[in-house]
Amino acid sequence: MKTIIEPFRIKAVEPIRMTGREEREAILERAGFNVFLIDANDVLIDLLTDSGTGAMSSEQWAGVMRGDESYAGAKSFHRFYDRVQEMTGFSHILPTHQGRASERILFQVTAGPGMVVPNNNHFDTTRANVEHSGAKPLDLVIDEGQVANSRHPFKGNMNLERLERLFEDVGAERIPLVMLTVTNNSGGGQPVSLENIRAVREICDRHGTPLFLDACRFAENAYFIKEREPGQSNRSVPEIVREMFELSDGATISAKKDGLVNIGGVLLFRDADLAQRARNLLILTEGFPTYGGLAGRDLEAMAQGFTEVLEEDYLHYRIRSVGYLGERLTAGGVQIVEPPGGHAIYIDAAAFCPHIPRDRLPGQAVVCALYRHAGIRAVEIGTLMFGGEGNRPEMELVRLAIPRRVYTQSHIDYVVEAVLDVFDQRDALRPLEIVDAPAQLRHFTARLREVGS
Ligand code: F0G
Repeated sequence: MKTIIEPFRIKAVEPIRMTGREEREAILERAGFNVFLIDANDVLIDLLTDSGTGAMSSEQWAGVMRGDESYAGAKSFHRFYDRVQEMTGFSHILPTHQGRASERILFQVTAGPGMVVPNNNHFDTTRANVEHSGAKPLDLVIDEGQVANSRHPFKGNMNLERLERLFEDVGAERIPLVMLTVTNNSGGGQPVSLENIRAVREICDRHGTPLFLDACRFAENAYFIKEREPGQSNRSVPEIVREMFELSDGATISAKKDGLVNIGGVLLFRDADLAQRARNLLILTEGFPTYGGLAGRDLEAMAQGFTEVLEEDYLHYRIRSVGYLGERLTAGGVQIVEPPGGHAIYIDAAAFCPHIPRDRLPGQAVVCALYRHAGIRAVEIGTLMFGGEGNRPEMELVRLAIPRRVYTQSHIDYVVEAVLDVFDQRDALRPLEIVDAPAQLRHFTARLREVGS
């Protein structure tokens, strides 16, 4: 059979409230043309993020009922710990409430003023946490990773020459760790190859510097390695995942992605000393090290999620359904970041509406049009998110992030039709300007207005 079906049946449903175009027009205006300020109840298809928005399985919900809520040493912690240890090989395993809590603790115990943290591409909270420590984040993704229509199979790879040069220029003592984001969210959900992780490991070894993974989407990355990397197709996904983690000295994980849960995070260390310092900080702000700011039931759901996410039927469906959206948009003439990423499709907004200059936020114009036309909520990843204070992101993107196990193919077909309709009428898209915004992470709360073109 050529048709790929969702490998699950639906046991509980959540109604979608239908809205009309006029109603959405008023909602958009009230929200200052910022979709973060729109209520979820006013959204038909919510592609704002794949983070914490997935559907849990019946086994995960069963785990929720099994949750042991003891303060210390709960059974649920041990189930979580055993699962993460089996999957990653790490023995210093700290639960946290989400990815950015892991990041804050990691950079507080490793980084500081005068230091530089290289990554393929820092995610926005990772960047902010590096900066919060006083260190400077640096993005060193390969050149192909910054070109929307390049079809390099591992566009998330680190540029090894630039990494090597950085060590020569600033010296290893000022680089507390090297980070690799798998998959590379800010660069289009693109994977990093095993070969690249091994090469970064080798550079780190030569300089005595630890390598950490930002491993939010480790399973999707491993599936791409199995599909695309020479010599990997006969290995199992859990084997590849294990090798990715074994090549690193630690990791931050937002379990809201490939943990298949609505809340949760993990922080992993090889080094016992660092782990102990992190544990002390964890107690200060998150909770005792056997619950880390979560309920016992959340740890149960995570343990089960980390099992289900490695099932190849699930990953095949996941990567194919995102790929399907990408292929339909490409066939309709829309330039996306190619090839399709693991968790999202990224529309090249600069190519979509070339009549809107970058400082007039072409990506946000597309985001507003999708909401107006079809009630779809996407997110701009471009000048609104990363611009300001002299920063200029490489690309103007609009991300359609696909929640895990939530939408069916007809929902995705609706999204395809909406994007292609907006593309047909792209000349009518209006430029935007910022009316009011905070200095940091401005896209979350900024208010905007449409201006004459
Ligand atoms: N690292 C990456 C690569 C991420 O994509 C995210 C979150 C985080 C770290 C932080 O994790 O949200 O649990 O604190 N990304 C979400 C997104 C928010 O929409 O891409 P968190």
